[in-house]
Amino acid sequence: MEAGIIPTRRLKGKARVVVRGIRWLAEGDAGLKILKTTYLRHMTVPRVRSYVPGLDEILFGGIPERSVVLLSGGPGTGKSILGKQFLYNGLKRGDAGVFVALEEHPVAVRRSFRHFGWDIAQYEREGKFAIVDAFTGGVGTAAQRERYIVKQVDDVHELSDVLRQAIRDTGARRVVIDSVSTLYLTKPAVARGTIMTLKRVIAGLGCTAFFVSQVSVGERGFGGPGVEHAVDGIIRLDLDEFDGRLYRSIIVWKMRDTKHSMVRHPMEIKDGGIEIMWDKYIKITGSSVRIEPLPKEEAEAMRKAVEDVEKQPAPKKIEIEEE
Ligand SMILES: Nc1ncnc2c1ncn2[C@@H]1O[C@H](COP(=O)(O)OP(=O)(O)O)[C@@H](O)[C@H]1O
Ligand SMILES: [Mg+2]
Repeated sequence: MEAGIIPTRRLKGKARVVVRGIRWLAEGDAGLKILKTTYLRHMTVPRVRSYVPGLDEILFGGIPERSVVLLSGGPGTGKSILGKQFLYNGLKRGDAGVFVALEEHPVAVRRSFRHFGWDIAQYEREGKFAIVDAFTGGVGTAAQRERYIVKQVDDVHELSDVLRQAIRDTGARRVVIDSVSTLYLTKPAVARGTIMTLKRVIAGLGCTAFFVSQVSVGERGFGGPGVEHAVDGIIRLDLDEFDGRLYRSIIVWKMRDTKHSMVRHPMEIKDGGIEIMWDKYIKITGSSVRIEPLPKEEAEAMRKAVEDVEKQPAPKKIEIEEE
């Protein structure tokens, strides 16, 4: 028997995720036969660290590279802040980024970055960070100073073209669209198509993205079936009232290609941004709120996963395969 090493296997439906493995081959009458394939699981997923306190822990090391993650939640749950923190943390460590503003004026977007002490101005000047203005439609004096403007916001092709240009110009690795719900609020039938079009642009250019998805207070879903199935991951942020007090929490509902925490974690928003209590879980029932430490071995597994990712050599420059 001979052992052959075949370095890649393409996963169905995810042409860009390459799993390394060893195939054990035997030569028979009918040619080569595969006896067994051993996948090297640790090598499979390069990760993008969010560096948001606690988030990489609950994702066992970070977001699998080139994922599109739906950041879903009701109003005021911290979706926009989390998106901005992900981008800023990247900028500080050399990952260029793009923020697509559909909900707020670009001027307000810059102000809210500053509110947390995240100075994006220098990165914008250096061409490493860009805001795509899909809010003003190019109307107003402030809008005329914007470099990337989408005039017809409901035209997903115009949006993809402008976004593609912004990603190319900046060399972005991280993208946040805030929010994708705006793109199909009045026409849910196009939601899936819209998400798929944007996903192709983003993953094709080697980026990892958060798509902010708005749900109503009390709504259980994440933004509709077309969207929920099209994305690679879903993170849900919540705000629950109990006994006259609001409690923040976060739960990872889905994340392809990785293990993730299966419990709801308490979360806080502070002057420096979001902090997730990754080693605690929160139980909210009709009659009580309980915050308890995670079992030691569960917390230890998460801590170890982040430590392992930290030890890995910096990823090579990502190859871009656009269709
Ligand atoms: N400095 C701060 N300290 C604590 N909480 C803050 C601070 N700044 C904003 N917040 C909280 O963040 C919320 C807004 O978060 P945001 O990410 O904009 O929510 P959304 O999910 O609607 O995008 C506010 O309602 C407020 O509760
Ligand atoms: Mg928001």
